[in-house]
Amino acid sequence: MSSRMYKPTDHVIKKSYLPSIQKYKEMYERSLTESELFWTEVAQEFQWHVAPKPGGFMKYNFDITKGRVFVKFMEEAELNVCYNLLDRNVKNGFGDKIAFFWEGNSPDDYTRITYRKLLDLVCQFANGLLAKGIRKGDRVAVYMPMILEAVICMLACARIGAVHTVVFAGFSSDALAERLSDAKAKLLVTADGAWRGERMYVYKRTCDDAIEKARTFFKHRVDMCMVVNHLDRVTPGGSLKSEIKDLYNWNEETDIWWHEVLEGESNICPPEWVAAEDPLFVLYTSGSTGKPKGVVHTTAGYLMYAAATFRYVFDYHRRDVYWCTADVGWITGHTYVVYAPLANAATSVMFEGTPYFPKVDRYWSIINKYKVTQFYTAPTAIRALMAHYNVEDGNLTMPDLSSLRVLGSVGEPINPAAWLWYYTRIGKERCSIVDTFWQTETGGHVITGLPGATPMKPGAAGFPFFGVEPKILNEDGIEIEGPGEGYLVFARPWPGMMRTLLEDQDRFERVYFSKFPGYYCTGDGVRRDEDGYLWITGRIDDMLNVSGHLMSTAEVEGVLASDPRVSEAAVVPKPHEVKGEALYCFVVLKEGLQFDADLVKTLTLLVRQKIGAFAAPDTIQNAPGLPKTRSGKIMRRILRKIAVGDHEVGDISTLADPGVVEELFNNRPAEA
Ligand code: WT7
Repeated sequence: MSSRMYKPTDHVIKKSYLPSIQKYKEMYERSLTESELFWTEVAQEFQWHVAPKPGGFMKYNFDITKGRVFVKFMEEAELNVCYNLLDRNVKNGFGDKIAFFWEGNSPDDYTRITYRKLLDLVCQFANGLLAKGIRKGDRVAVYMPMILEAVICMLACARIGAVHTVVFAGFSSDALAERLSDAKAKLLVTADGAWRGERMYVYKRTCDDAIEKARTFFKHRVDMCMVVNHLDRVTPGGSLKSEIKDLYNWNEETDIWWHEVLEGESNICPPEWVAAEDPLFVLYTSGSTGKPKGVVHTTAGYLMYAAATFRYVFDYHRRDVYWCTADVGWITGHTYVVYAPLANAATSVMFEGTPYFPKVDRYWSIINKYKVTQFYTAPTAIRALMAHYNVEDGNLTMPDLSSLRVLGSVGEPINPAAWLWYYTRIGKERCSIVDTFWQTETGGHVITGLPGATPMKPGAAGFPFFGVEPKILNEDGIEIEGPGEGYLVFARPWPGMMRTLLEDQDRFERVYFSKFPGYYCTGDGVRRDEDGYLWITGRIDDMLNVSGHLMSTAEVEGVLASDPRVSEAAVVPKPHEVKGEALYCFVVLKEGLQFDADLVKTLTLLVRQKIGAFAAPDTIQNAPGLPKTRSGKIMRRILRKIAVGDHEVGDISTLADPGVVEELFNNRPAEA
């Protein structure tokens, strides 16, 4: 199973903070044995209103048998994240430095913003929020495309101590309504719409629907909706503008334009000093029971951890230009588009569009245009793009990419073929690839290589980041030392980890701490090889990973079963060449009902409506019944085999009705 190692090249090493694996190991040891010293050094870079007190930065309990689970870091300290991202950098002489190169959907539409200008706009918007009655602790929902106002809004919340909850703008109005209500959001900030590729999305309409649904289904009232007039920048003047206006409603009492919120507001806004453990944001992630989990991240620990991982994992240096392609609606966008780069006074690219527009070389042409040094994307994007370049197409030339030094991967295990293509065709065999394993819950990278230090193995995430102590446990909770495979858990907290689930501490403890008392359980499987490298083997719970989007089987099953014709549904992942995994759904219809193409269409649409387009099933199969144990548990292991047409199903003698398996094989749709 061991594979070839690729050593970091001089191109990477000569700039690197940690130019050898020995250096990494020494520092890693120190991060565990002298943890406080380690984080003190990180903390010294930042401005504190009340400095952290030495002597027990980290207080925690991971053992549910000993009481409630909690994590507290630098508890008595006070600070403001926005101040540290903007004011501090301006004071340190980076006022004229570019914070973001913003690249619009159209290659002709681009702009840039300096740290000073960003600070001005954030202060202005923060004053606007205050003027509208938003205060410390209030929840502000954000449903936005990849535009600078999304960043400005998040930072303005941080400045006044309001808690943002960004909902990915690919989610449907149902999903948004559920999150608005669960978070008790007072305000929703959005844009009229945006173009992605050749399609226009009207976000304001989705927001109108979501606000209405939150009110009728969940009895939650959103007081206000602030709207960025973004479509006008790409559709200036005249007729289209008024046509667009017809696409959504305008409620004079509750809706207000972003530019009107800014009007007359000063660009000076004193930061609200908050406690280290005050919440910074809530971000929803899928839970295996179907109801989304509101992951709560707090202030000091998140900032320290985001800053440190960014510096070391991307080896960021002052003149570098960094680009993370993730959407701000996901944790990758929070930590590695917004918070971590700004904490390091970095210059980043922020991109509104898609990799395929106007041509499939868009990513590479952006790297070339801004001379990007660090590029961070997902395996699904790499696989989709490499497919275009693997066919001999004379029109597809790769622009000069020699500015690159570090390539990042995130979201799912990267398969060796995609890794090699990334390494050779994009990195020209001289860049380091960092395969960063982490989760919404971990706040930042927890298992990863470091560019100058870690010899690379295609497909291995590598080693723990500083302060992180991974263990491999077997089903009985016994630790596996040395090479072996089992559950990936963490034996102690690190500053950036989640603190609780929003208003659901019980679920927090149940989901992450009940299986193995004393450990944080990731839900992923892992293998350690003979060189100590960690290889993530994928989820062990009932979760699916479609194009790096995590969702639960229960979530999709719930939607399918909400159709009155469906009596039962089961969803399993099926390997997919580009998406990593695709949804394969089995539906059992009620007595006497007919399964047909129309039903498949309706069910597909239903999933898109209730969750979002990214969750649309690839296959929906008619199932006369489901393989269940005598106690009624669906055996998903068997369904997975059926999905791929593999007849080696193993022992089916424990099934209540073994005959159903053959029937399901016979019922596989032709296209599956
Ligand atoms: C799950 C977390 C945090 C990044 C975006 C996803 C999978 C993530 C890797 C990787 C193998 C990975 C895991 C994890 N995952 N990165 N480098 N190698 N698997 O955040 O939606 O919270 O999903 O994504 O299964 O548990 P998320």
